[in-house]
Amino acid sequence: MINVIGLGYIGLPTALMMASHGVEVIGTDYNKELVATLISGHTTFKETGLDELFQEALAAGIKFTTEYQVTDMYVVSVPTPYDKFSKKVDACYVIAAVKDVLQVAPKGATIVIESTVSPGTIEKYVRPEIEKAGFVIGKDINLVHAPERIIPGNMVYELLHNNRTIGADDKAIGERVKNVYASFCQGEIVVTDIKTAEMTKVVENTFRAVNIAFANELAKICRHDNMDVYEIIKICNMHPRVNILQPGPGVGGHCISVDPWFLVGDYPSLAKVIDESMKTNDGMPDFVLNRIYEIMRDNGMSDLSRVGLYGLTYKENVDDMRESPTLQLLESQARHLAKGLKVYDPFIDKDVVPGQYHDLNDFLAEVDLVVIMVKHNEIKENMNKLVGKVILDCHNICDLPGVYHI
Ligand SMILES: NC(=O)c1ccc[n+]([C@@H]2O[C@H](COP(=O)([O-])OP(=O)(O)OC[C@H]3O[C@@H](n4cnc5c(N)ncnc54)[C@H](O)[C@@H]3O)[C@@H](O)[C@H]2O)c1
Repeated sequence: MINVIGLGYIGLPTALMMASHGVEVIGTDYNKELVATLISGHTTFKETGLDELFQEALAAGIKFTTEYQVTDMYVVSVPTPYDKFSKKVDACYVIAAVKDVLQVAPKGATIVIESTVSPGTIEKYVRPEIEKAGFVIGKDINLVHAPERIIPGNMVYELLHNNRTIGADDKAIGERVKNVYASFCQGEIVVTDIKTAEMTKVVENTFRAVNIAFANELAKICRHDNMDVYEIIKICNMHPRVNILQPGPGVGGHCISVDPWFLVGDYPSLAKVIDESMKTNDGMPDFVLNRIYEIMRDNGMSDLSRVGLYGLTYKENVDDMRESPTLQLLESQARHLAKGLKVYDPFIDKDVVPGQYHDLNDFLAEVDLVVIMVKHNEIKENMNKLVGKVILDCHNICDLPGVYHI
């Protein structure tokens, strides 16, 4: 049996996927409300295919609880934020979860850390906890790192099809854990050592962050000297060895806006490109706010409350708002002692920020300048409703005349 610890965006679909592929699974989360929701037969976030997978897993016998289980394998999928000051990974959730697991784990159990951590985190923070609890690693407790690559919006497909990495001290243990993931994963599963697995996951997200930052920097240069960044990127990408990403209003979520900081925190004198890239991406919401002021000036507008931000989530067609560019922009607005921006997102039902609307038509009726912060399908399908508005399109998805870009 597998006890999955932490039933959030990663732990829940992983637990469901294992259960629906013949693995006996109990999911544990210390959030009582979340567990109660799952027990009552409802999923806790919106994700393509998740409800169907949930039904399959329920039929296969998955259970949810707030209690840690006595079993032979644990998959720990708890948050790993970064310390805003040192930029280093904050491993406190992982440490707490491992400590709780060790209260119940029998000898011979395997603890798999799925949470993203910087290279050396398991060595520095997890191993000592296991040893302090009186276990011998490799004999009483096996330690494995199995980082996750899935992207919100396409999680179910990617769980099935992505390649994976397993890091283990002992090849045989690595192979054993690989077989568990192979119950559902059709991709290639590489077995390596723990530190290499830790580093690969962080490097993958860092690669993405640096490439996004490059596109964002080009957007800034082109804006400064009145060049069309999209036309330039389109032409450059016709070169056989060039593949520039698209600029955007910033980066959010739990991975690309967080994990690269771990390397900056751990290797401050070495991770220079990464540091600058993260600052560039983090500066984009401010850049968009400045664009809003410029465009308002150009159009003789002075009232910020006639400006609406379309989209609150960090990416399209998901309900995850963590670290989202829109939230960062609203914070920036508050720092500038400005207020009044209206906001709307079809994926966010709850009231989370002032000036928030829950219906596209109501939102559009109240604003003259629409800022497309997120390219949800909804806005792509309703472009006709933006006719007559001033539009700042941060994703280059709108082909109405006179549209402004970042
Ligand atoms: N969200 C993503 O897109 C994504 C993708 C790849 C990897 N990751 C990584 O996966 C890890 C988990 O991220 P997430 O997005 O699922 O986080 P999340 O916040 O959605 O979920 C974490 C869950 O863990 C629970 N939890 C925390 N401590 C616990 C404990 N001691 N015992 C029991 N439950 C506990 C929380 O209540 C929460 O429900 C992170 O390291 C993240 O970087 C996330």
